[in-house]
Amino acid sequence: MKYLLLLITPFFFSCQSKEEITQQQYSVEGMALYKTHCENCHQADGSGLRDLYPSIQQTKLSPEALACLLKNGKKGNGFMPANAKLQALDIAELMTYMREKWGGKKQIYPADSVKIALLNCR
Ligand code: HEC
Repeated sequence: MKYLLLLITPFFFSCQSKEEITQQQYSVEGMALYKTHCENCHQADGSGLRDLYPSIQQTKLSPEALACLLKNGKKGNGFMPANAKLQALDIAELMTYMREKWGGKKQIYPADSVKIALLNCR
């Protein structure tokens, strides 16, 4: 039993760190995308800009609705432009970054989930 544990333990740690590395890659890419596409309006800390642009620190949007918003933009009281060029992976990276920065959760949001969400935007 002792030997079995010795055998398994390194596997366990290498699996875990691979997931962590992917999460970090998504998050770093997401941060770069955020700077390019979002920061002008919502600011680096996500607090928004007066009455013009809302804070995104505590958004109540579901992940699906968020994916659609990032892709298609929204015209409500204000106007958020669409980002037609963002691919599912870009959006997944953005969402992973937002989740870590404002959700306090280091968990990847998978590109496949974004793809499904984008097929069902209203
Ligand atoms: C030109 C300014 C502008 C840019 C650039 C922009 N947004 Fe927005 N965003 C807005 C405005 C305005 C709203 C409010 C739209 C409405 O409901 O009227 C909004 C709404 C949101 C919301 C919903 C907030 C809530 O809880 O209702 C989120 C989340 C969000 N933006 C994230 C992003 C992200 C991430 C990016 C980059 C991909 C981005 N925005 C780029 C202006 C912008």
